[in-house]
Amino acid sequence: MCGIFGIVKEKEENLGEILISAAERLTYRGYDSVGMATISGDKIDLRKDEGKVDTVAEKYNIAEMSGQRGITQLRWATFGVPSQINAQPHLDSNGLMVGAHNGNVVNNIELREQFIAEGLTVRSENDGESCVHAVERYVKRGYETIDAIRLAYGDLGGDYAFVIGQVNDDKLYAMKKGSGLVIGIGEGFTCLSSDLPSLLPLTRKIIRPQDGEIIILWADRVELRSVTDGKLIEREPETITETMDAVQKGGYPHFMLKEIHEQPQVARELHHLLDDSFELDSIVDKMRNARNLYLIACGTSYHACISGSVALAQIAGRAAIPVLAPQFISQFAPTVNHDDVGIFVSQSGETKDVLNALHAAEEKGITAFGIANVIGSTLTQATESCLPLGCGYEISVPATKTFTNQVYNFLYLAYKMAGRDLTELEQIPALMEKTLEMVAPQVEHLASTLDDVDDLYTLGYGSTFPIALEGALKLKEITYAHCEGMLSTEFKHGPLSAVTENYPIIFTSGKNDIPLIISGINEVTARGARAIVIGPDDKRLHDNSDDLIIIPDAEEQISALLAVLPLQLLSYHMSVARGYDPDFPRNLSKTLTVD
Ligand code: M6R
Repeated sequence: MCGIFGIVKEKEENLGEILISAAERLTYRGYDSVGMATISGDKIDLRKDEGKVDTVAEKYNIAEMSGQRGITQLRWATFGVPSQINAQPHLDSNGLMVGAHNGNVVNNIELREQFIAEGLTVRSENDGESCVHAVERYVKRGYETIDAIRLAYGDLGGDYAFVIGQVNDDKLYAMKKGSGLVIGIGEGFTCLSSDLPSLLPLTRKIIRPQDGEIIILWADRVELRSVTDGKLIEREPETITETMDAVQKGGYPHFMLKEIHEQPQVARELHHLLDDSFELDSIVDKMRNARNLYLIACGTSYHACISGSVALAQIAGRAAIPVLAPQFISQFAPTVNHDDVGIFVSQSGETKDVLNALHAAEEKGITAFGIANVIGSTLTQATESCLPLGCGYEISVPATKTFTNQVYNFLYLAYKMAGRDLTELEQIPALMEKTLEMVAPQVEHLASTLDDVDDLYTLGYGSTFPIALEGALKLKEITYAHCEGMLSTEFKHGPLSAVTENYPIIFTSGKNDIPLIISGINEVTARGARAIVIGPDDKRLHDNSDDLIIIPDAEEQISALLAVLPLQLLSYHMSVARGYDPDFPRNLSKTLTVD
């Protein structure tokens, strides 16, 4: 949610292209507005507006911007509508400092009132501007910049990371409190960013600051200081060896399509990672013996939790309660104790709703495990043990490969708990490859027949219920059509009234549930609906559906996992056919670090 990048060079030079490229790499974090600021000597050049990077860069000729220091920010609007005035970075009252943040300053409204009362010039409604004034107020009272930042840290509530620079200086300052921030050290420059991948094209030598640390960047060195007492903190840089392939489109028109096709490979890699995990046995043991076992997440990751709950029940006979993270706080946290286990699932490992639930659960003594994709993220550090997803970078906002690996992770845990032969799972990657091959042309054609559809349902039962929910989320997220996912048996209890002639309803069917799904199909086709079915090659499904997308024969749980692939592809093709960019759907952000 929002992205920041900053760079410090030895002397003034062109920074425009560097800032544009960094902003493009951070676009997945927010794309309501973008801004760039450069600082040299006593001058600040600030150019910003609502819109995406390419539009703003062209309109304001960002490529020509030069400076000794530069900052860029990508915004996902929370405080204040997307507009030029609310776009970041922001100036202080006299145009002597410029700064930007990612995250959320929760006491922004009270702070703005204080700043106005103190005579500071507040231009926008945005909380990033409050970060700048929070420093400015102490500089005005005579504090050194570093001390002003330490004091500002105490005033700014919420979780955020923040960068600021001032005229007649050669440094950038940053602070981290609950939001992602990584520092890069290059040849003749230093830089910082909200995430690691956006730094990798510039340098592989990085430092990961912790919450409560203030960072000072010169062109040739970096200092970390404690916000509490200002004392120097020693931390050696690490060298990143991962390749950059994952952050390129690799010949695909969109990251989403590339990531859909990466699923077999990352599933293969995850299996090895889990085989090699030292922690897995003890996690399984604690899950088995827990009084209550909760699976906690948001969005797509929550759907994986439902899938995990079905797998644990059907394969290992273990009950697990899947719950949306914010609802966990009110519905379950009051009853939790140290005999319970929570598995917190998140691609980013930074979702605020999930971290809030984790804190609420830990306060009650729960044993907390994680499943996360981003190594080093807050969730990986805040849980007792965290299992990997091993997906590499997932750039596209709609989650695809991280969903299938979350489900894979739960299958692995269920098999392990049941003492079942884990090599059975090793067939999944090949089955995924076969599924993609089998369904791709048919799904692309199907998408072209749904061009004018703005309302549809996806229905599943048992192991395919979470798949129907996930399919619906993908469809609504990137096609902007209204799509509701639900348990197939619930459809007759109300939504059936939506059905008119040719109304599209997508069913996902596991082989054990075919009779029940057929009864659902007949209830809607009898009323004129078009039944599109994803399921095994079964005569009963052939005879009862208008379109049947056949997936390979597999064990019930594995077959459910395969059924999500055609839904991902269908959403992708419908989105592209409508002229949308599936990688960056409107209003959304990949990492939601706000309440
Ligand atoms: O990073 P997380 O898995 O915690 O994110 C949770 C949701 O925001 C996320 O799964 C979202 O629903 C997907 N990007 C949708 O495709």
